[in-house]
Amino acid sequence: MKVLILATPEAAVAKAASLTAETLRAKPRAVLGLATGGTMLPLYARLRALHAAGLSFAGVTSFNLDEYVGLGPDHPASYHVYMRSALFEHIDIDPARCHLPRGDAADPQAEAQAYEARIAAAGGIDLQLLGIGRNGHIGFNEPTSSLGSPTRVKTLTESTRDANRPYFTDADTVPRFAITMGVATILAARHCLLLATGAEKAEAVAAMIEGPLAALCPASALQLHPRATIVLDAAAASALQLQDYYHHVHPEGEDRDPV
Ligand code: PGA
Repeated sequence: MKVLILATPEAAVAKAASLTAETLRAKPRAVLGLATGGTMLPLYARLRALHAAGLSFAGVTSFNLDEYVGLGPDHPASYHVYMRSALFEHIDIDPARCHLPRGDAADPQAEAQAYEARIAAAGGIDLQLLGIGRNGHIGFNEPTSSLGSPTRVKTLTESTRDANRPYFTDADTVPRFAITMGVATILAARHCLLLATGAEKAEAVAAMIEGPLAALCPASALQLHPRATIVLDAAAASALQLQDYYHHVHPEGEDRDPV
């Protein structure tokens, strides 16, 4: 794993955005895996700014990690709406090439399988953006998810439902299920880029990077990935035992080869 520790959340977001832009400049027709959640909002703001400064998404195909079962693409708390308002409507990406699972599919399990097939048909994911849950989930792969799992329907934990409650109005209950790319789907991406900021992520980040490979922390599966870049601010990095080493290898989160 490449562990890049930046002093502030703003610097961590800027680093993740510049790594994403680097991928697009190297491969304008890249397939991007996209994530949602609060952590990604400043990253998408940064990507919008890079687009305003000339970065093109015109050739990009995208696949989001997940969507709530039961929510149609116009539900205000759906990830379809989140993505349109946070990113898609502000850049030159072709909406026809922006993919999210359909939460309102009549057969969510079949939709999950079809989604997996669509990713494969697009040639696989070049760069997968990831956040991490306080419980160590990636996508909606909750603790005890199979580390070999494909895209499928998962039951959400109560802690995840609580964390996402602010996005729902009182009249709406937070869905109990989601369609999510599996851990194996994520590991199949050619490059994984996980961004975590804030002290509330510190324990999950430590378990992911330095803990045992364990289904209890699905993000620890990234230890198996040959190219996983973890971008952290100081607070999210604060529970890591080997902070000195990560700073030594990548001073100020500099992304360079050591030799
Ligand atoms: P957050 O979500 O960015 O809203 O904390 C991250 C996640 O649950 O993956």
